[in-house]
Amino acid sequence: MDRYAVIGHPVGHSKSPLIHALFAQATGQALAYTAIEAPLDGFAATVDAFRAAGGRGLNVTLPFKLEACAYADEVSERARVAGAANALAFDGGRCRADNFDGVGLVRDLQVNLGQPLAGRRVLVLGAGGAARGALQPLLQAGPDAVVVANRSVAKAEALVAALQALGLGREKLAACGYADLAGQPPFDVVINATAASLGGEPLPLPSGVFAPVTLAYDMVYGQGLTPFLRQARAAGAGRLADGLGMLVEQAAESFAWWRGVRPDTRPVIERLATPLT
Ligand code: ATR
Repeated sequence: MDRYAVIGHPVGHSKSPLIHALFAQATGQALAYTAIEAPLDGFAATVDAFRAAGGRGLNVTLPFKLEACAYADEVSERARVAGAANALAFDGGRCRADNFDGVGLVRDLQVNLGQPLAGRRVLVLGAGGAARGALQPLLQAGPDAVVVANRSVAKAEALVAALQALGLGREKLAACGYADLAGQPPFDVVINATAASLGGEPLPLPSGVFAPVTLAYDMVYGQGLTPFLRQARAAGAGRLADGLGMLVEQAAESFAWWRGVRPDTRPVIERLATPLT
């Protein structure tokens, strides 16, 4: 049976084995998908051993997404732009890398949540790897503006400059600090790509960022109403979503890339969703 896995550290919490088992069952594909915890200094050796045992592909989660790019023989354009890979495929001794996180996010927003992006104003909070991975697919969806706001303004500016140097989002993409959002028109979509959601302290967002039309989206999942979503609701955001749909959509992209069959994501999202209360 063809073998796949998610590799990370830690990886015990990952829902990917369940998601891929549900996809395999629904599409009639015979495959095994497990979770592998690699030592922090042992990513390449663990991948080598998985390949030597006949492994066909890996999803890559924290903290190995950058290393996965460096490990691969061929890196897709979007993984290069994201600076990270979340999926590897092994064929005939070669390793290909791709990154489906951003397309998973955009698909979740547009298809599952029915939130158009074309002509809309999008705010991305955070300027780390999670934000970087989202920017190219967001820009490709044709928004009016994508603003990257971060605690460290210099980091947001560097991220925007790096994308603009690649010819992306020239006049649509802007960087700022949280305080600089004051007085800007409200956003249609506000995406939390910071790690702050996990800590519990609210982001210092000025009033006016959220409006009744705003969809507030937290990239984390399975935590119910996160501090960010709570903050967004209190500030007037009309709709809230967590990152489960993004997780399932990136998994479906990986599955289709490996197996040539795209599974239906809706039943899996419905099965795994936790109420936002
Ligand atoms: P990831 O790869 O998951 O995006 P990262 O590269 O470490 O992780 O980036 C973490 C992001 O969360 C950064 O945007 C960080 O802001 P700074 O660049 O200013 O450090 C943000 N972050 C983490 N903790 C935060 C907090 N308590 N308040 C605001 N932003 C926070």
